[in-house]
Amino acid sequence: KVVPVVLCGGSGTRLWPLSRGGFPKQFLVLSGKDSLFQQAVQRVNDIAAQDVQIGQTLIVTNEEHRFLALDQLRELKNVSASLLLEPVGKNTAPALTLAALASMAEGDDPVLVVTPADQTVGDPDAFREALRQSVRVAQSGDIVILGVTPDRPETGYGYIRHDGAAGLYGEYTVRQFAEKPDVITARHYLDSGEYVWNSGMFILRASTWLKALQQFRPDIAETTQISWQERSTDAQFIRPAEAAFRQIPAESIDYAVMEQCPVSALPIRMIPLNAGWNDLGAWDAVWQTGNQDAQGNVCHGDVLQTDTGNSLIYSSGRLVSTVGVSNLIVIETPDAVLVADRSRSQDVKAIVSMLGEQK
Ligand code: GDD
Ligand code: MG
Repeated sequence: KVVPVVLCGGSGTRLWPLSRGGFPKQFLVLSGKDSLFQQAVQRVNDIAAQDVQIGQTLIVTNEEHRFLALDQLRELKNVSASLLLEPVGKNTAPALTLAALASMAEGDDPVLVVTPADQTVGDPDAFREALRQSVRVAQSGDIVILGVTPDRPETGYGYIRHDGAAGLYGEYTVRQFAEKPDVITARHYLDSGEYVWNSGMFILRASTWLKALQQFRPDIAETTQISWQERSTDAQFIRPAEAAFRQIPAESIDYAVMEQCPVSALPIRMIPLNAGWNDLGAWDAVWQTGNQDAQGNVCHGDVLQTDTGNSLIYSSGRLVSTVGVSNLIVIETPDAVLVADRSRSQDVKAIVSMLGEQK
């Protein structure tokens, strides 16, 4: 059995002012008709096949966003889901641990298909094929990561070095995992041609995750277990015990387990994902993946422009117009307007910290 797990408790500060504490980016509709969260849920459910039986999808999100998630889930056909609600964000390692424990509650040990909720995929067929292969490899107890060929020295991703020899299902053995390197290291990885990006999608058995976490971060494993044992359930909502949950050390899947790869005998495999993958982390990526006109502009809503080039212009209501500018990000919302140079879109989070909005 395969259980989709969607991690969607992040806050997405670099997409301010559209992404807010109360309405984070994964729930925004940035392209097409579905939100990033809805796209992620559908994408992982789409791998159903004759030999792949899909169980109930597990959504791990913040208590505060439960109705946002539920409303968006209701718009999707043929998806049945439970929501695991975190009282506070403790990053992705505890979130995945909750999902693993929930998926094993009835004595099963399913293969979890774990996906972030802040990405787009251009080629669903290639994606489905890579996931199906990954499920086959993960059944034996290996950890599978979907890897993406890098095209720039991005510092916000994990980098994976593999052994260069593909196995039966097109899988490579991972030799090193380096999370969020500095730019000099990232450039070195890129130039070497030996590294791929971690897409943030992991395919592994629930017991494989729990065992690996117990090995490297028993503190996280044990505290999460305690808060799970004292959970409460209310229809589709499952809540780990709050006081115990607050005691869990915050850490990501990548730092807690994946980076341990070289010092351990962890069987981590990488399956290449050539499916037009994009992480919509910042406005520049929204422009990159958007529907560009002949001048390279991506416009949304009530926009009038002339002599404007390579810009993203977003109106949520008021008329926004630009004249004679290029490489800009302009985002209009009812109570805040952002104007930024496109090359500085990573720095939008500085405004958010100035505003004192919580990460
Ligand atoms: N439930 C829950 N709780 N989800 C969370 C939490 C949390 O506390 N924190 C983050 N998430 C969700 C986010 O909403 C997102 O969908 C996903 O987990 C990944 O978190 P990010 O914060 O977006 O991680 P990242 O982008 O910095 O890095 C990860 O993804 C990269 C690819 O996009 C890493 O896995 C990198 O190695 C990877 O390259
Ligand atoms: Mg991300």
